[in-house]
Amino acid sequence: MSVENAAKSTPVTKTVLFKIKRQADPNSAAQWESFEVRWKPGMNVISSLMEIAANPVTTAGVTTSPVTYDANCLEEVCGSCAMVINGKARMACSALVDQLEQPIRVEPLTKFPVVRDLAVDRNVIFENLKAVKAWVPVDGTYDLGSGPRIAPREQEEAYPVSRCISCCCCMEACPQFNDDTSFVGAATIAQVGLFNSHPTGKALKYERLAALMGDGGIQECGYAQNCVEVCPKDIPLTRLISEVGRDVMVKAVSDLFRR
Ligand code: SF4
Ligand code: SF4
Ligand code: FES
Repeated sequence: MSVENAAKSTPVTKTVLFKIKRQADPNSAAQWESFEVRWKPGMNVISSLMEIAANPVTTAGVTTSPVTYDANCLEEVCGSCAMVINGKARMACSALVDQLEQPIRVEPLTKFPVVRDLAVDRNVIFENLKAVKAWVPVDGTYDLGSGPRIAPREQEEAYPVSRCISCCCCMEACPQFNDDTSFVGAATIAQVGLFNSHPTGKALKYERLAALMGDGGIQECGYAQNCVEVCPKDIPLTRLISEVGRDVMVKAVSDLFRR
């Protein structure tokens, strides 16, 4: 066999290089570790983290602990696997390795307390959703009968907003969501828009708008539109921020005249 043919028949093992920011606990210093993972067709960042967990050895040959991360559905539905990949907040389960520049840099979201490695505490979004009563108020366990009818056109407008997975990517990307403001962020404002548009949900409309009027409310939004750029569910965040902002303004003016 010629040298050229021998080279052709030797299978080349393709690998993918990862640089992962790691932190043992909320108080320890972060450090980077590199891993080389065997390439597989269709692999994504979560499947790569699984490969690393099965063989947690760095490129320097050091055996380390498996990387901690949150993930559940693996189909961009649960919202738990948000992280910063090559500098952009996104869902790790839908981040295809073949579409990413290498080395692939993976970091935890920067605006949320690190629990360990890539797992962060995103409790703030759930507290914000509670603060604006992001639910349809239906009391009682008895049969309330059928709900109000919603026209197909209204359903079509509401459905995209209902797809929010509370991933927090919009908050991570937002320049106004930081330690200096207590800004609720785009996702919470969008849910105010959704529940205020619901025939039963709108019973709490003015309470929701009032919750967006104080410190950290909708006036903190600088309309930079970073949020809509990163939202994995293509939620029309800037339209919702405008609409809810208009409703907040109308309420503020009518509150003035009521005094
Ligand atoms: S429009 Fe800009 S400031 Fe407002 S929520 Fe989105 S990213 Fe933040
Ligand atoms: S609005 Fe989009 S980016 Fe923000 S939490 Fe919901 S799905 Fe995530
Ligand atoms: S694992 Fe559920 S969204 Fe990524």
